Amino acid sequence: MSFGVYVHIPFCSRRCDYCAFATWTDRHHLQEQYLRALLADIRRAELPPVTSVFVGGGTPTLVDPVLLADVLRAGPVVPGAEVTVECNPDDVTEPMMAIFAAAGVNRVSIGVQSMVPHVLRSLGRSHDPANVERAVAAVRAAGIPTFNLDLIYGGAGETLADWRETLERALELAPFHVSAYALTVEAGTPLFDQPERHPDDDDLADKYEAADDAFTAAGLANYEVSNWARPGHECRHNVLYWAQGDYLGFGSAAHSHRAGRRFWNLRTPERYIAAVESGESTEAAGETLDVDTRRLEGLQLALRMRDGVPVAALDVDGLEDLVEVEGERVRLTRRGRLLANEVSLRLR
Ligand SMILES: C[S@@+](CC[C@H](N)C(=O)[O-])C[C@H]1O[C@@H](n2cnc3c(N)ncnc32)[C@H](O)[C@@H]1O
Ligand code: SF4
Repeated sequence: MSFGVYVHIPFCSRRCDYCAFATWTDRHHLQEQYLRALLADIRRAELPPVTSVFVGGGTPTLVDPVLLADVLRAGPVVPGAEVTVECNPDDVTEPMMAIFAAAGVNRVSIGVQSMVPHVLRSLGRSHDPANVERAVAAVRAAGIPTFNLDLIYGGAGETLADWRETLERALELAPFHVSAYALTVEAGTPLFDQPERHPDDDDLADKYEAADDAFTAAGLANYEVSNWARPGHECRHNVLYWAQGDYLGFGSAAHSHRAGRRFWNLRTPERYIAAVESGESTEAAGETLDVDTRRLEGLQLALRMRDGVPVAALDVDGLEDLVEVEGERVRLTRRGRLLANEVSLRLR
């Protein structure tokens, strides 16, 4: 039985103007207290055997790696579990990776976004491509066996040639896994209020196809709309989410799901720390999905994945170039992956 743990680190050195995640740039004084609260919260949780851990953010590499390693050792993580930490390229050093590796980390996910300096600047990122190369070298030197590169396409001023350069330079690093996300305009972000910087759908489609061609040629197979991996390097933790598995989220704003009930934690680090320190629940709210909603959500998630959905679950009439039927399953074609949300409307 799979069981996941998500740990949220809500601190960043600066905020990227497209990002809507629950993270703060002015609360670094809370870091140590926050990590101690995480440790206490995980210890009191009475977890079942944990088969995957994902430390995300925010910026997990901003906090003291020794304290983060203590947090990673706090739960009943089974041997062979997948343990991932999200890393910002600027922060990654070999000693930090060695501390993580000794605490059981066997996968890191590096927030690369682009390998072209002017695109990184327009995304508001502080690193440069050389940092990414150094970060990957540090991960390898520490003996961490697998890693992901996160990429974003569609930033203002990014040409198709720029994106191809990012793909080429990212693939030179021989990643085991790549996530490539279309830049999403999130309400409440500075990007939202600047329509001239919003990505264009046709440009995004061209970039998606360029990415799929490049990754496939490099031996990375698409297994979810935005994710490619070498065989055996698919992210087990994310696959658990997409299969509606059970997981608990620790830390401020972290989400959880257990047996059809999902719930989420208090949003600010202050309130999370206060709840743990006073022995209270860290939960802000939750909801129980009815059977039909849960089933439909399960199909929507499955449709985005390589194995697709049972043929009976999708009305394929008129969707000829968007889906393909193989035996009892129907899955998205590459064109279909670009229009996954529209195809989803035909699930039944
Ligand atoms: C929340 S971040 C955390 C990791 C780390 N702080 C970083 O930015 O590299 C995880 C990933 O989400 C993606 N992301 C965040 N906001 C996005 C947006 N508005 N559109 C597309 N991708 C986004 C980025 O690829 C990023 O690496
Ligand atoms: S994208 Fe990453 S580094 Fe940028 S603000 Fe969001 S969590 Fe922080």
